[in-house]
Amino acid sequence: MGMIGGGKDAFIGAVHRIALNMDGLIELSCGALSHNATLAIESGNELFLEQDRIYTNYEEMITKESQLPEDKRIHFVTIVTPNFVHFEPAMMALEHGFHVVIEKPMTFTLEQAKLLKQKVDETGLLLCLTHTYSGYPMVRQARKMVADGALGSIRKVFVEYPQGWLSRLSEKEGNAQAAWRTDPAKSGKSGSMGDIGTHAAHLAEFITGQKIAQLCASLNTVVPGRMLDDDGGILLRFDKGATGVLIASQVAAGEENNLRIRIYGEKGGMEWCQQEPNTLLLKWLDEPMQVYRTGSGYLSDEAKYNSRVPAGHPEGYLEAFANLYRNFAYALSAKYKGESPNPLIDFPSIDDGVRGMAFIENVVASSQSDKKWWDFVL
Ligand SMILES: NC(=O)c1ccc[n+]([C@@H]2O[C@H](COP(=O)([O-])OP(=O)(O)OC[C@H]3O[C@@H](n4cnc5c(N)ncnc54)[C@H](O)[C@@H]3O)[C@@H](O)[C@H]2O)c1
Repeated sequence: MGMIGGGKDAFIGAVHRIALNMDGLIELSCGALSHNATLAIESGNELFLEQDRIYTNYEEMITKESQLPEDKRIHFVTIVTPNFVHFEPAMMALEHGFHVVIEKPMTFTLEQAKLLKQKVDETGLLLCLTHTYSGYPMVRQARKMVADGALGSIRKVFVEYPQGWLSRLSEKEGNAQAAWRTDPAKSGKSGSMGDIGTHAAHLAEFITGQKIAQLCASLNTVVPGRMLDDDGGILLRFDKGATGVLIASQVAAGEENNLRIRIYGEKGGMEWCQQEPNTLLLKWLDEPMQVYRTGSGYLSDEAKYNSRVPAGHPEGYLEAFANLYRNFAYALSAKYKGESPNPLIDFPSIDDGVRGMAFIENVVASSQSDKKWWDFVL
């Protein structure tokens, strides 16, 4: 694979590298690792990339890699740049025959997301969107139990994603990650809802199998001087009848990364929290609560397939990320061999990317509108 972004000046690129190395299925062969040429070269050297495959811009990387003999050429690119540098490299990679792994939110605008979908459909190439939280074994367990009807028909979804790291005007205090995330020219139409609200919305749809059909959003910019929302709440109506509430805040002072989802059906509910990811709580109407734990024999095949160690050995964020890479690598491998992939393999796709961008645009429009219910338009 080749990596775009993710140099020594970056956050998530290093997490991707740990994840993709976990199963020995993928080799990082080249990179255009930073927009700063010096850092791109230094970062490539630190990763022992071959000298002629350390690039100082992604255009050169994609062009030169596509001209290499097939046995040397990369199969896919991973894009881990800020949101405003997602669409162009993704489109260029697809046009040159490379599959794509890309960070969320998938593009800068919904229109770009739709163009990317057209290209994916036209080329038949694979695209994996790294909604990391869908890679956790207990999230897979939750999804399987909902699909099997364990809770009965789903009535209520509460998904909350509080973080506290933007409680001050960090973008003016030299925090590079805060600087682009709060700049509408680099982040997109929304701040908190684009950055973490999209994860929460994806998780709710992923587990329930229901799609957001209508919403009523209220976005806030709490910290004076900030250019985008840093907090917000949304009432949700899903297409199969559930209703819900989504809260995303980056000014919840003291919170780390407290993504939590609670889902209730006719017979009972479930609760999963990202900071305690090896546990899934099941709450029953007239029975005591159950505590399901990662690595246990009673779990579904979906949960077991995405778990690596026996019960009692903590697994977390890096393993969840690695599950997405492993599933993507197996899907690619099946494609090259002309086989159908194992049905347990899945990862968020181009369609999730389009929905994520539609989520941002609909939420911003709803928040600016006086209309109570806003139809989720794709
Ligand atoms: N899935 C997750 O849980 C998760 C977590 C964090 C970030 N993200 C997403 O990952 C992306 C990157 O976020 P981050 O926090 O790592 O950002 P960052 O600012 O830490 O790193 C961005 C990197 O991209 C590089 N870059 C910028 N323009 C470039 C260009 N034209 N060519 C090559 N490299 C370029 C920068 O030099 C830097 O190395 C964002 O889209 C963000 O939303 C996802």
